[in-house]
Amino acid sequence: MFSKKIVQLALTLSQVAIGLASTLGNTTECTADTFTYPTDQLSGTSSLGITAAPVFNYTAISVIPGTTVGASFTVDFCNVTVTYTHPGWNDTIHSTVWLPAQDNWNGRLQALGGGGYSASFGALYTTQAVAKGYIAIDTDAGHVKGDAPSLVPNTWALTSPGNVNLYLLEDWGSRSLHEMAVVGKAVTEAFYGAEPVYSYFSGCSGGGRQALEIAQKYPEDFDGIIAAAPALNLENFIPAGYWTAQVMRDLNTYPPACEIDAFTEAAIQECDELDGLQDGIIALPELCAFDPHTVVGQSFNCSGTMREFTSAGASVVQAAWTGPRSQDGMTGWFGLNKDASLTSYYAATTCTSNSTCSAAPLGLFSSWITYFSAKDPDFDLGNMTDTQFFSYLKQSQDEYHSIVAAANPDLSGFRAAGGKMISWQGLADEAIPPNGAVAYFQQVQDLDSDAQSFVRFYQAPGVGHCQTTVGPNPNGAFDQLVAWVENAVVPETLTAVDTSGNTRNLCSWPLQQIYVGGNSSDPDSFNCTLAAYPSFAADFPFYDSF
Ligand SMILES: *[C@@H]1O[C@H](CO)[C@@H](O)[C@H](O)[C@H]1NC(C)=O
Ligand SMILES: *[C@@H]1O[C@H](CO)[C@@H](O)[C@H](O)[C@H]1NC(C)=O
Ligand SMILES: *[C@@H]1O[C@H](CO)[C@@H](O)[C@H](O)[C@H]1NC(C)=O
Ligand SMILES: *[C@@H]1O[C@H](CO)[C@@H](O)[C@H](O)[C@H]1NC(C)=O
Ligand SMILES: *[C@@H]1O[C@H](CO)[C@@H](O)[C@H](O)[C@H]1NC(C)=O
Ligand SMILES: *[C@@H]1O[C@H](CO)[C@@H](O)[C@H](O)[C@H]1NC(C)=O
Ligand SMILES: *[C@@H]1O[C@H](CO)[C@@H](O)[C@H](O)[C@H]1NC(C)=O
Ligand SMILES: *[C@@H]1O[C@H](CO)[C@@H](O)[C@H](O)[C@H]1NC(C)=O
Ligand SMILES: *[C@@H]1O[C@H](CO)[C@@H](O)[C@H](O)[C@H]1NC(C)=O
Repeated sequence: MFSKKIVQLALTLSQVAIGLASTLGNTTECTADTFTYPTDQLSGTSSLGITAAPVFNYTAISVIPGTTVGASFTVDFCNVTVTYTHPGWNDTIHSTVWLPAQDNWNGRLQALGGGGYSASFGALYTTQAVAKGYIAIDTDAGHVKGDAPSLVPNTWALTSPGNVNLYLLEDWGSRSLHEMAVVGKAVTEAFYGAEPVYSYFSGCSGGGRQALEIAQKYPEDFDGIIAAAPALNLENFIPAGYWTAQVMRDLNTYPPACEIDAFTEAAIQECDELDGLQDGIIALPELCAFDPHTVVGQSFNCSGTMREFTSAGASVVQAAWTGPRSQDGMTGWFGLNKDASLTSYYAATTCTSNSTCSAAPLGLFSSWITYFSAKDPDFDLGNMTDTQFFSYLKQSQDEYHSIVAAANPDLSGFRAAGGKMISWQGLADEAIPPNGAVAYFQQVQDLDSDAQSFVRFYQAPGVGHCQTTVGPNPNGAFDQLVAWVENAVVPETLTAVDTSGNTRNLCSWPLQQIYVGGNSSDPDSFNCTLAAYPSFAADFPFYDSF
């Protein structure tokens, strides 16, 4: 099968060369008439129309998902939009396909994911793919096209107060992803007379969750998948992200950012060197036992004013690091690692000049509770009790896990289809608790002891949500995926680079990175060692209870 693909690619590329005359310049080909809706392959759907028009000199800033590699690109492409519905669901989904000029096509297709409550980010992701010769596809999953706020699902979550639009939730959860793949391949075939030789999916955060859904539910759709910082179990970690704000209200204490950041700094002081190197990064978070209550009473410098750590402040920080846990331990979620910024989202406060502060949690967290738990746009979060919070958390698992969690560790279908997947998680992620991905990939490897032959997971120390804060970021992950899929180059380590240009080889889980001596700019100064990870069943009973 592998060599067949090589032959196919060679064929496609030579056809491309012969067909040079038939470029995008021939605008008669980039018209709606060229394309037919793939009715037979998409049962339960109905076309609402296809548009196609050439676009020239289109310029946009565009990034590879999960990287710091952003640039301005100018591209020409055939812009195809396939609009369809699931009859009876009252949904309208736009599946977008950007086709490069035939002589610019590299024979491959690349699907791009979204983030937050959005299924796609449009040109921000697709432009760079077209610039490199890929067909770029994405879907809006039925959310208002081009107008789907990623932090609040207010435009689509409810059909009426008390009623979640479960059809749109399922479209967003997974269904539109398979349909996007089918549409993308049918449009490709109609335009170039050949299917893509290789198809890839690339996403971070919400896009990382989409990536896992595809590997679990539609394992034959893509040859290679990037699942960066996957938002798996989002029905759980998103409402759980509100917990720190809830604790602030319970304690009636809203610490200023400088106190929260000083707690983070104190934790880094204590745990930084556990991996052998002092670099402001906690590379082995499981070993970091720092208790914020031990520094209460000590002073810290708040922009020139000396203040003392408070006990209430320590409890707030502890809530973000531990995560919520019901009294019986069976409902909850992981917390953030201790070198993650807490003032970005989890313990964010806004303060007036008189230093009166209030909680300012990320809208992503509060709006889940409003729309998917309470199902009431006017819900009064400010008066929610802890009991109500935990009952909402449980309800969220019960009602939405099967639709959006992407947490099934059985990837045997993807393996059988010959797929390859690279997933990575920044350990200083300030939005998604990294242990969610660690626990998932531990389950994947527990289920299939040879899982590393087709799926690899890497921890990225000091890297924040989808992008570096301090540590080296795996900017070349997509290229390594392509090399794995097409040339069997196994990504034993994931190449990462920090903002100063220093490179590092990220370790393939369950190996973790330690410093072995020498210049820290040199990747050979680090090595991979067997992880000191906790037993998830024993330490986190809520995880085992799914
Ligand atoms: C343009 O496309 C039409 C329809 O497919 C084809 O007949 C014609 O030969 C093409 N012209 C060029 C210059 O490629
Ligand atoms: C695209 O830009 C190039 C360079 O500026 C220009 O020569 C060309 O005419 C433009 N094409 C179109 C279709 O506007
Ligand atoms: C592509 O076509 C769609 C549908 O007509 C349109 O909304 C969109 O603006 C077009 N994109 C570009 C970059 O022209
Ligand atoms: C279908 O959805 C639209 C909004 O997209 C809404 O205005 C309309 O009331 C819905 N129709 C039904 C029958 O639910
Ligand atoms: C506190 O920080 C300020 C700058 O914000 C600095 O000028 C001052 O020297 C610091 N004080 C101490 C005691 O570290
Ligand atoms: C601080 O300012 C806010 C708004 O400016 C006001 O509502 C509050 O009462 C003030 N608090 C104190 C203690 O002065
Ligand atoms: C809680 O409810 C009371 C009574 O309805 C209301 O006055 C108060 O503003 C609410 N508190 C918050 C924080 O929303
Ligand atoms: C470490 O390596 C970097 C890059 O080669 C170099 O600039 C730096 O001077 C080295 N540091 C030490 C302490 O040798
Ligand atoms: C770790 O050390 C071993 C033995 O010195 C070496 O073979 C290996 O390449 C090193 N791994 C990394 C990732 O540096």
